[in-house]
Amino acid sequence: VNAIGTGAADVLIDGEKIAAVLQPGSTLLGHDLAASVDTVVDATGKYVIPGGIDAHTHMQMPFGGTEASDTFETGTRAAAIGGTTSIVDFVVQYPDENILDRYQAWHDKAAGQCAIDYGFHQILSDVQDSSLTAMDELIAEGVTSFKLFMAYEGVFLSDDGQILRAFQKGADNGAMMMMHAENGAIIDVLVQQALARGETSPYFHGTTRPWQAEEEATHRAIMLADLTGAPLYVVHVSAKQAVEQIAEARDRGLNVFGETCPQYLYLSLEDQLGASSAEWGDFEGAKWVCSTPLRSKHEGHQHHMWQSLRTNDIQMVSTDHCPFCMKDQKELGVGDFSKIPNGIGSVEHRMDLMYQGVVTGQITLPRWVELTSTTPARMFGMYGQKGVIQPGADGDVVVYDPNGHTSIGIGEGRSHHMNMDYSAWEGYEIDGRVDTVLSRGRVVVDAGGYIGDKGHGRYIKRGLSQYLV
Ligand code: URP
Ligand code: ZN
Ligand code: ZN
Repeated sequence: VNAIGTGAADVLIDGEKIAAVLQPGSTLLGHDLAASVDTVVDATGKYVIPGGIDAHTHMQMPFGGTEASDTFETGTRAAAIGGTTSIVDFVVQYPDENILDRYQAWHDKAAGQCAIDYGFHQILSDVQDSSLTAMDELIAEGVTSFKLFMAYEGVFLSDDGQILRAFQKGADNGAMMMMHAENGAIIDVLVQQALARGETSPYFHGTTRPWQAEEEATHRAIMLADLTGAPLYVVHVSAKQAVEQIAEARDRGLNVFGETCPQYLYLSLEDQLGASSAEWGDFEGAKWVCSTPLRSKHEGHQHHMWQSLRTNDIQMVSTDHCPFCMKDQKELGVGDFSKIPNGIGSVEHRMDLMYQGVVTGQITLPRWVELTSTTPARMFGMYGQKGVIQPGADGDVVVYDPNGHTSIGIGEGRSHHMNMDYSAWEGYEIDGRVDTVLSRGRVVVDAGGYIGDKGHGRYIKRGLSQYLV
């Protein structure tokens, strides 16, 4: 299965690369194919897809007074088990930090640790001359995309003038400018007002980050992209109104793109409101505190988000994998939702959760591959090496069994391998299963079990986005 369609074929891998895609029954120099190779993976009755690319992860990210609980080792291992063979992780710059130092620090964290290949985006939270100059150096290093924030005052937030300057630079050097589009000034006031009213439980994280704050910021980011000519990629889109902004910009011919995440397709603010447990009471809802937040089911965001994946108003699905444990991490926000570290961990489940959209008729099989692998590769300058099964591509291949079954969650018979003490997806059942995973020609998952090595994963030096003309 490639993004352009499906067919029966044998895939021949030589070393780290795909050597040929052959008609079934083809011979190799006159010999039966199976007899001529070292290893045969029998995929009869199963789908052979390009390995998943999760272009939005935060491994070991220092954030919210703590650090994301998956290391590059545990997070990339879980990704591999779930059929993802590449991640693009965010190098964090906090104010006053030098981005080239931070970039090096991320290499130090990831080197020798990863089960699968990895690239980096760069977060810019200190837009000043030295950061802008360093963007050119990072592009030469294969970091061709830069994330800015319209929220998180004092942590990440850039004001419109700073965004303008960074976008001017992006227009100049071809970098993809990524945006966390939420109006932080509005949100900060709503949060203080809610807390003053005694509204302290996790549900109020969602009510104080309304869709208007997302729509407005998305619109503003698009205007700044239009003004400067920079390509814009809006991350973790959750509100249908923000989708409309992106669709309108695309209809006008702008290089504007949008990503959504499984949580915005499946989970709702009402689910979060109803969440309660013996252990945590209504603090249970902290398991789903992320930004942008879960949206109301009654407003129809989830339905609209699936539709946007069919119409290509939204082009791809990443996880925004940013895991925190309940114990000692999410717990920091007991009695004050604004202190709950923001993030959900899903790197292991994205391929399964999106495959379930094929089962339920929301997307087609080739579109599943396009949303989870091919478009991420093209969007972030990896296509040809990644994102497709064709000669010359890396041997990143997943054999997916449509007759298998995956029970997501923690405990006996359940799939969870991420370093978190809970699963945001507990109880989700998938009518399919990751069977075999190859990373650069090496089998790293066999019959669902991990047999890879930390340190197999290599840094991906990316080019500019292949969507730009
Ligand atoms: O809640 C989230 N999304 N945490 C990770 C940081 C970000 O804004 O992507
Ligand atoms: Zn963000
Ligand atoms: Zn993120």
